[in-house]
Amino acid sequence: MKSIVITGCNRGIGLGLVKYLVKDKISPKYVMVTCRNLQNAKELQEIADANKNVHVLQLEVDKPETFDNFAKDIEAIVKEDGLNVLFNNAGYSPKSTRINFVKAEQMMETFSINAVGPLMLTKALLPILKRAATINKDKPLGIERSVVINMSSYLGSISMNNQGGLYPYRCSKAALNMITTSLSIDLKPDGILVTSVHPGWVKTTMGGPNAPLDVDICSKRIIQLLKTLNEDHNGQFYSYEGHKIDW
Ligand SMILES: NC(=O)c1ccc[n+]([C@@H]2O[C@H](COP(=O)([O-])OP(=O)(O)OC[C@H]3O[C@@H](n4cnc5c(N)ncnc54)[C@H](OP(=O)(O)O)[C@@H]3O)[C@@H](O)[C@H]2O)c1
Repeated sequence: MKSIVITGCNRGIGLGLVKYLVKDKISPKYVMVTCRNLQNAKELQEIADANKNVHVLQLEVDKPETFDNFAKDIEAIVKEDGLNVLFNNAGYSPKSTRINFVKAEQMMETFSINAVGPLMLTKALLPILKRAATINKDKPLGIERSVVINMSSYLGSISMNNQGGLYPYRCSKAALNMITTSLSIDLKPDGILVTSVHPGWVKTTMGGPNAPLDVDICSKRIIQLLKTLNEDHNGQFYSYEGHKIDW
């Protein structure tokens, strides 16, 4: 893979993925990483200062009106190579979510960040994703061509839901999974693979301090999974360990 865009990289799993990618033996030529506030993303900026292939860009995934300009910025970096990987990682989970507390605004806000944003960003970046898929058409489906990864959660699995609650988060990730399915059908003729990934329960602000998995291990496993993606993964839901998850 020559190029990757990852959203939500100033902290948590996004930052872990960037740290792992720059240490990797074959670090991509263009690692384009986003955060909402450039001033607050000090660690990310330090990584970019030390690694010429890292480009930090500002992006709010719930502002689709800015995506065409963002796509132009990415195109100016990758040029005729196109974009190999879009990793929709940024995500949000509101706190109080039992039935008596859920609010319509929470539902809309979480949908906007976790489902609408990834779909519209994929749409905006489609021309350059297609370009990478086309110029690498001699290669099999995967990161050497073009891939969209949607960071989902097992909490978005309908068949695994035996606890209830968490309406905004569960529903938004279930919607994201449906987006993965439709995109995987629509973009297959263009040679673009689309898959949903569950990162495990990870020690981040969202995962909390009791989560069993460290960001480092999760990031390493996800990049390993990324490297193995092939036609079988298209339109599917995988854990960071590479196990298939039921929708
Ligand atoms: N941690 C877990 O156990 C776990 C489990 C399953 C799935 N996931 C998924 O993994 C992904 C990363 O989660 P995490 O644990 O790393 O969470 P995190 O530590 O809370 O980080 C979330 C990231 O998303 C960004 N973000 C939130 N709203 C945004 C918006 N409107 N526009 C752009 N960026 C936005 C945040 O930026 P700011 O710093 O500016 O807020 C931050 O960089 C999410 O999609 C999450 O749903 C996590």
